[in-house]
Amino acid sequence: MKKRIMKNMWMAGLLFCMCTQLFCSCGRYRPAAKDKVYAGVICYNQNDTFLGQMIECIRKQFERLENDALDITMTIRDSAGSQRTQDDQVKELIDAGCNVLCVNLVDRTDPSEIIDLARENNVPIIFFNREPVAEDMMQWDGLYYVGADAKQSGIMQGEMAVDLIKSNNRIDRNKDGKIQYVVLEGEPGHQDAIIRTENAVDTLKDNKIKLEKLSYGIANWNRAQAQSRMLQMIGQHQNKIELVLANNDDMALGAMDAYSKLNITRENLPVFFGIDGTDVGLEAVLEKELSGTVYNDKEGQAAAIAKLAVAIVSKKGMEDITFKNGKYIYLPYSKVTIDNVSAYLGEYKKNKK
Ligand code: BGC
Ligand code: CA
Repeated sequence: MKKRIMKNMWMAGLLFCMCTQLFCSCGRYRPAAKDKVYAGVICYNQNDTFLGQMIECIRKQFERLENDALDITMTIRDSAGSQRTQDDQVKELIDAGCNVLCVNLVDRTDPSEIIDLARENNVPIIFFNREPVAEDMMQWDGLYYVGADAKQSGIMQGEMAVDLIKSNNRIDRNKDGKIQYVVLEGEPGHQDAIIRTENAVDTLKDNKIKLEKLSYGIANWNRAQAQSRMLQMIGQHQNKIELVLANNDDMALGAMDAYSKLNITRENLPVFFGIDGTDVGLEAVLEKELSGTVYNDKEGQAAAIAKLAVAIVSKKGMEDITFKNGKYIYLPYSKVTIDNVSAYLGEYKKNKK
């Protein structure tokens, strides 16, 4: 008896399954399943001029990718310069259900806690702008990096300085056949600081520009710190400085602030070069205060991050993305001078809308 009931129940179950399958496969009425991307975006410090603008670009790119078959929710966190805070934010966002994370590390040499959390919960990470060391990137295959090649930006900054020095004999103000220069450097340990400096200086030397290094100052990417470092250097070297190479635009602008604070006349000013092409940097090129900058393609990097995040979650389109070593995406830099700055300004005005 018991056997018989079991058999009937089994038959009924089978019938039910067959019916639902038949019903579901009448595709006309089946709503398409939507892909849902829950992206957590974490920034090392949103007061950083370049990063502040880049986060805005990422937000826009995610918005642009949304469509009828794709829902995207983006949550932004600012770690305000603390790796501990960032580790907690990663945990919080994973607990809240994020299925992909975009992380701008505070300490690029210390991502282990974040990587462990991500791997345990199977939430892939796209690191950006602050590149983890290669061994950390190898810890799990759910780790990616989007950024740019620091060496290229240094070379381009050096080339722009070479062009200007060769075409304008007033840069060598004391006419000693050498260019007296100082460097303003970003955060020690950041992949973009030392590599940019070395390559800019080597490019000048390779192009037979005789150099005399007067001094350097570490200003951690920051405009106010650059101003105070520059005030010290002017104090030491008075009007001798002919060239200021800064690892980013904010520090070049800080150096210019120091000169205007001291009311130094235009004929005693050095020439300044930056990197980034931030809004303020581009304006300074347009005003002929900054001789050149190297465009750090935040729009391109943001587009790559958003596209990759969607491909990872939806498991579609990964094959359309070109990686270096299977997990890196590097966007090219480009030179900006007075000759082409209006095109870049146009681009940023368009993006602002
Ligand atoms: C940018 C800097 C920025 C830094 C932060 C660099 O690539 O050029 O402006 O402060 O990244 O990580
Ligand atoms: Ca000189």
